[in-house]
Amino acid sequence: MQASDSATHSVPVAELYDSAEGQLGPILFGGHLHWGFWDADNADDDFAGGSEKLAQLMINKTTIGQDEHFCDLGCGVGLPAIKLAQVKHCYVDGVTISGYQQHNATERAAAAGLQERVNFIHASALSIPKPDLSYDGGWFFESIFHMGHKAALKEAARVLKPGATLLLTDLPLLPTATDDFKQFVKQHIHSEFVTQTDYPTLFAEAGFALVECWDITENVMKPLVGKFKQALEQHKDAVAACADDKAVDNWVYLFEYMSENLGYVLITARKL
Ligand SMILES: C[S@@+](CC[C@H](N)C(=O)[O-])C[C@H]1O[C@@H](n2cnc3c(N)ncnc32)[C@H](O)[C@@H]1O
Repeated sequence: MQASDSATHSVPVAELYDSAEGQLGPILFGGHLHWGFWDADNADDDFAGGSEKLAQLMINKTTIGQDEHFCDLGCGVGLPAIKLAQVKHCYVDGVTISGYQQHNATERAAAAGLQERVNFIHASALSIPKPDLSYDGGWFFESIFHMGHKAALKEAARVLKPGATLLLTDLPLLPTATDDFKQFVKQHIHSEFVTQTDYPTLFAEAGFALVECWDITENVMKPLVGKFKQALEQHKDAVAACADDKAVDNWVYLFEYMSENLGYVLITARKL
């Protein structure tokens, strides 16, 4: 599918993920493009292991049934969508603003023999090229802060059926987050974060009941930088092929800065 008009308007985020560094993410994170969850059961896992565990937690939280339709809004290179379809036997549409990711995810679905069940669309999740009430469930898996929470929830509410479960992982600003940090992430990773206290109003105004907000900051943000440095070392040849030392230092600095200023939550909501 061609990029919609609104996809071409969000060029900076697309460029971030289309870049060589953006393409390195899934190599470091075991095919995922989200961070990881570590607890006593998997404390020694590497980044890929932690990312896989977080994906399993998300899949376990969905209520999607066999042959129902699910939307993955900001789908990366598609591994969470593919795993969801394998476990739940549902249909999944993944939406990404990145042309590279749509292409890569489509190849992954075909390799898994799931091209009839899992479809990747190059478009903006703020203008999903699907009719109202198309989906029985959906998630924003570490993606909504690139889109703007209010507009993204409004568009999700349009395409979800009443009663559908919407999951999110999100990175709320800590009470100590600084204005310098907010400016930095807006400029460098095209992200705007909200606080946990913003959620009740945001969800209610978009037409969702907020069911659960599970704070997993300790499991995600505390181990983050150490696991990331380990992943850079594990994949040093791939890293060297597309990033110089300065770029790697900047990346570590970004992760340190984010872990000082942001928490991490897994949210369950229900479309009213
Ligand atoms: C941190 S990655 C998470 C990827 C994936 N959900 C995962 O867990 O592996 C953020 C994703 O949001 C996507 N994204 C950002 N803005 C978007 C938009 N307006 N519409 C669709 N996708 C968007 C990016 O292309 C990327 O795939």
